[in-house]
Amino acid sequence: MRSIVVSSGKGGVGKTSISLNLGIALARLGKKVIVVDADVSMANIGILMGIERTPLTLHNALMGEVPVDDAIYEGPAGIKFVPSGLSIARASKISFSRFEPIIKELEEKADFVIIDSPSGLAIDAETALKSAKELIIVAIPEPTSVADALKIKQMAEKYSVKTLGFVVNRIIGEGHEIKTKELASLLEANVLAEIAEDIQVRRAGSSQQPVMSKYPNSSFARAMNKIALDLCGGASAVAQGKPKKGLLESIVDKLKQIFKR
Ligand SMILES: Nc1ncnc2c1ncn2[C@@H]1O[C@H](COP(=O)(O)OP(=O)(O)OP(=O)(O)O)[C@@H](O)[C@H]1O
Ligand SMILES: [Mg+2]
Repeated sequence: MRSIVVSSGKGGVGKTSISLNLGIALARLGKKVIVVDADVSMANIGILMGIERTPLTLHNALMGEVPVDDAIYEGPAGIKFVPSGLSIARASKISFSRFEPIIKELEEKADFVIIDSPSGLAIDAETALKSAKELIIVAIPEPTSVADALKIKQMAEKYSVKTLGFVVNRIIGEGHEIKTKELASLLEANVLAEIAEDIQVRRAGSSQQPVMSKYPNSSFARAMNKIALDLCGGASAVAQGKPKKGLLESIVDKLKQIFKR
């Protein structure tokens, strides 16, 4: 019934890892979950689970060749997933007009539809964003992330998609990193989780097993469990952004004005 898109402006911040593992965490709480790989040119979710034999994919459904039902597969912990195809030739011909109706159809079949968005704000990412009811923004603690996250949040507002909050991923803990509280205040959004740079995430990826299965006690897996619990319980915030004056805020104000033009 709920559809949540996991988005970021910047690439490689952890959207796919979070989409898959959050899906598994929700499934372990007894929820019916469908994870959709909306990254039509860089299909990754199947690879992260070691499930690569998926003859029919979101590509076929978007092209109107098959109903989306034919592109739903069983994943770990009882999740279902809709993979994207790996063919570049096909990806370049995809029309996104069927994307939103497909998500609506999937919403009828699950408690949670988690949509793994491609990076950026091109048509593919914009379509994924506006097709969902709710949004989780993934950021890393770098200044460019603020601008990227803001763009995503503003686009969500444009389409009346509710921003649940953001996840700060890949925190190393060095002084130059933007503090999570600062990000929360700049974005005026809830912090859903702070996740450290954790080698186990990459190890799990290399062994093609979800982090939740391979390293259930890792900091990453614990963060997924926390977000899943919050999503199920309704309450969410670790911290709520509060207005705060500072250099970064003035930069953000300028960015906001630019985006509004
Ligand atoms: N907390 C973390 N600690 C260490 N490595 C991480 C963490 N989160 C993600 N990674 C690694 O970062 C890389 C990118 O992650 P992922 O593919 O989930 O990001 P993405 O935002 O989906 O990327 P893309 O924009 O290319 O779709 C992967 O190698 C993944 O294992
Ligand atoms: Mg990805």
